[in-house]
Amino acid sequence: WRHTLSAEHHTGSADDVSRGAGLTATGVTAGYGGDPVIRGITVRVEPGQIVSLVGANGSGKSTLLKSLVGVVRVSAGAVTVGDRDVTNRPPEEVARAGVGYVPQVDDVFAPLTVRENLEMGGYLLRPKEVKPRIDHVVTVFPRLATMLARPAGKLSGGERKMLAMGRVLMLEPSVFLLDEPTANLAPAIARSLLEDHVRSLAQGGAAVLIVEQRARAVLAISDHTYVLAGGEVRMEGTPAELAGTPAFVESFLGGTVTR
Ligand SMILES: Nc1ncnc2c1ncn2[C@@H]1O[C@H](COP(=O)(O)OP(=O)(O)OP(=O)(O)O)[C@@H](O)[C@H]1O
Ligand SMILES: [Mg+2]
Repeated sequence: WRHTLSAEHHTGSADDVSRGAGLTATGVTAGYGGDPVIRGITVRVEPGQIVSLVGANGSGKSTLLKSLVGVVRVSAGAVTVGDRDVTNRPPEEVARAGVGYVPQVDDVFAPLTVRENLEMGGYLLRPKEVKPRIDHVVTVFPRLATMLARPAGKLSGGERKMLAMGRVLMLEPSVFLLDEPTANLAPAIARSLLEDHVRSLAQGGAAVLIVEQRARAVLAISDHTYVLAGGEVRMEGTPAELAGTPAFVESFLGGTVTR
């Protein structure tokens, strides 16, 4: 999305710094005030890539994403977007740096309409930019076009996830952090969300870091995958490398390696 934009009105202003930027976390340790929940985590996602995070419940996947966007305090390590250091910066500043975050829960405001949710997603835009941006988002998620006046609480699970992603799309992020976008969705809808929408974000030039329970489905669209266990990166590799690693196959693909 940033790439398309920069062609339209390239200005060379300071705000261009993070356009087309990837995200790097180096040695990130973070938690909720007591002992750290994640320790020394290094992950990286480049523009145009899909990088996935898998791991058991409670392994620290959501905590990592929250630490990247200034919601959870980082006690050691660094987070950069392009060459901009955003470690422990307020969420609004991280959003301005080009990072869009779709949380695992509370991803839309249920009593507000679809349009109002999108307007809130555009909170950093100038007023006249909001309407054209909503028009663009509904071309990406055509299902939302006929639902703009409907309260978000009356959407289906899949529509709600599209709205959550559309809300983030309002600011044209260069980096997307998606926390289990397919949770509670029927398998066919989950597959379509991953293979159509998530994949097209990366094809448009964005860097996508995605947390997923559906290991097999997310590996199919990933360039690189990190496995979290006990708050640390336990394994990492390309999907092909992980598919050839017995410990990974047994834990996440439910079977034995066939070579
Ligand atoms: N707000 C919080 N305050 C204190 N501890 C928390 C908080 N949120 C999460 N934790 C703890 O941090 C650990 C990691 O939780 P996290 O939500 O990051 O795991 P996860 O890998 O995203 O799990 P899931 O797959 O269930 O979403 C867990 O032990 C959890 O209980
Ligand atoms: Mg989680």
